[in-house]
This record gives sequence, structure tokens and C-alpha cells, in this order.
Amino acid sequence: MKTTDIGIDLGSSKTVIFSDSKILLELPSVVTVDTDTWHPVYFGEKAYQTYGRTPESLTCVHPIQNGVIADLDLAEAMLTNYMKACFGKKIVRPRVMASLPTGVTELQHHSLTQVVEAAGGRNVTVIENPIAVAIALNLDFNNPKGNLIVDMGAGTTNIATVSMGGIAQCDSFKIAGNTFDELIEKYVKKEYNIEIGPLTSEHIKKQLASVVKRPIEVTITAKGKNAVTGLPESFEITSNEIYDIVIEPALSICNAIRKVLEKTDPDIVADIMNNGIYLTGGTALMNGMSELLEEYFGTKVFVDSDPIHSVVKGAARALNHPELLGNMDFQHRSIKELTIE
Ligand SMILES: Nc1ncnc2c1ncn2[C@@H]1O[C@H](COP(=O)(O)OP(=O)(O)OP(=O)(O)O)[C@@H](O)[C@H]1O
Ligand SMILES: [Mg+2]
Repeated sequence: MKTTDIGIDLGSSKTVIFSDSKILLELPSVVTVDTDTWHPVYFGEKAYQTYGRTPESLTCVHPIQNGVIADLDLAEAMLTNYMKACFGKKIVRPRVMASLPTGVTELQHHSLTQVVEAAGGRNVTVIENPIAVAIALNLDFNNPKGNLIVDMGAGTTNIATVSMGGIAQCDSFKIAGNTFDELIEKYVKKEYNIEIGPLTSEHIKKQLASVVKRPIEVTITAKGKNAVTGLPESFEITSNEIYDIVIEPALSICNAIRKVLEKTDPDIVADIMNNGIYLTGGTALMNGMSELLEEYFGTKVFVDSDPIHSVVKGAARALNHPELLGNMDFQHRSIKELTIE
């Protein structure tokens, strides 16, 4: 693969650029802007660190929400900055395969293509997350045998049954990693009268969250701000408390998967029961997630060895192996072709 061929995953929490079997860039999809002018001040890691900590003069923005572009101008400014970080001042216009959730509108396809082209991409093509995952996992999905792919990210859970080189049934479900963080934040406010920021709630989640009961209770100490006095305060929180918070949204995800299976042809469902479920995305790393799904569906669950990068790896691979896209209507579409009259 030439370094001028890249996969881009413009995710709700992270942007990843992948080429030549390596990650060229991985940064938070966050921009800090001047509150008055909406002019970008920080991108990426620095912007992420201001999340929940900005003074009034600055605002922290996530230009990608639920897997799609929510702020076109800031998404473009952010990706332009990231492409410059990858390619410097070299006159490189890489060919790009960019990923997006399943079942989104033509307008959202168009916005993504527009942003990637404006940021310096050439011959931009988009690929739906589950197809990218199928390619990254080397699944032979061009035959009639069915597979189930679940990509659990920060802003979306993408669920798709794939067969004959395409998507049989799918859903892009808004309960995902961010939902767990928000529920932890609400719980701490209600139970302890302490306000915590989004970085703290995500830290608590990564340390303690488990969707199966842990045999031994674990406790951590975290810091926040007393909701009444406004003063800093430490508190202890246990894995059992977090289990009670996270189990409900985790079961909602199981239910959404069940609904996709209900709409899928019985023979494909039978294949899935034999083949198992393929799990990717950062939220797949939550303790007990694969066990919960195995128990719920009574089939094997495979978590990719590098689940956070499955989508971007598959996108980059698909760009250089269009034959893998088999029956799909694959073509490079320029921005002009996609422009909606
Ligand atoms: N060990 C972990 N335990 C629980 N959650 C985790 C863990 N590691 C990462 N996550 C969560 O995974 C999510 C990020 O996953 P990922 O990078 O796949 O999302 P994304 O691609 O940016 O978002 P999306 O696909 O929804 O647009 C975040 O919510 C993060 O908190
Ligand atoms: Mg993702």
C-alpha cells in the first residue's frame, strides 16, 4: 500500500488515520473554540484536556456526534489540521477510504466526502463501518453465509448482519460508550452530591465498569466538586455501584442486536448461531461485554485483538483491495458526483 492511500475513521471520540499497516495519527475528535468567534484554538489532545474544564471564553466542541458530522466547519478545520500533522507541507493528496455508520443519509455521506476532500483527500470513497470490520477481520462475506458484526464505539453501536458481500440488516444505535459516561456522571451527582467532569466519568468507567458481576468488589477514589459548596471533594465509588449503572444500557444494546436478528432471514441467523458474533470498537473492551453477549445469545463472541482500530484498518485495506467489496456498488465518487442538486 502506498502511503498516499489512507483509511480515515472520523469517530465520535477519536480520529484515526491508517496507512501502510501503521497508524499515522490517532487523536481525540475534539476542538476547543473561542466562544465569541467560534474560531478554533486547540485541536486533539490539548482540546480533549480542556473538555469539562474550559473557562467561559472557550468552548469544547465534538464536531462528530453519534458517528456523523455534527459541525461541518469544525470537522473540516480539525481534519485539515490532522492531515497536515500527517503529511506536513508535502504536496500529497492521498486517496482516501473514510468510514461512517450504517444506515445514515445521503446527506451525511456527502458531508463526510466534502470534509475529507476539503482536508486534502483525493478520490474519497466511503465505507460503512460493519463492512470495513468484515474486511479487517478477513471474513469471507462474499458468499451467502451470514455473519453478525457489532461495532461498539463512543457515540454509536453499529449492528449489521452481512452476507453476499453486503449488509442484510443493520441498525446504528445511539447507546454506546458515551451513554455509560453520562450515566456515571448523573449517578455521582445524585448519590454523592458531587459534580464530576466527562474525563473523570470516563476514567471511572474504564477502571471499574463491568457488565458481569465481579467476584471481588473493587473501590477507587475519584475527585469532583461539591454541588452545593463548589469546593473540591474526593469520594469513593465501588464496582458494584457501577455494575448497577452500566448493566441497563448494556442490555439495551443486546436488545437492539436481537431486533436486527429478528429482521434477518432465518438461514442467516442460523449461520450466525454457528459462526458467532464479531465485536469491535472501544466499548467492546468493557469488562464482561463478550460474556454478556455470549450468555444473552447463546453463541460464541469474538473480540478483535485491536478492536479500536478494526474499522480504520478495514477501510484502508478495502481501498487497495476493491475486489474484497465483491457485490457492493463500489466506486470512487467525487464530490461533484455526490453534490445534491
Ligand atoms: N477499557 C475500556 N473499557 C470501557 N470502555 C472503553 C475502554 N476503552 C475504551 N473505551 C470506550 O470506547 C469508546 C471509544 O471507542 P471507539 O474509539 O471505537 O469510538 P469512536 O470510533 O470514536 O466512536 P463512534 O464509532 O461511536 O463514532 C469510548 O467511549 C471509550 O470510553
Ligand atoms: Mg467508531
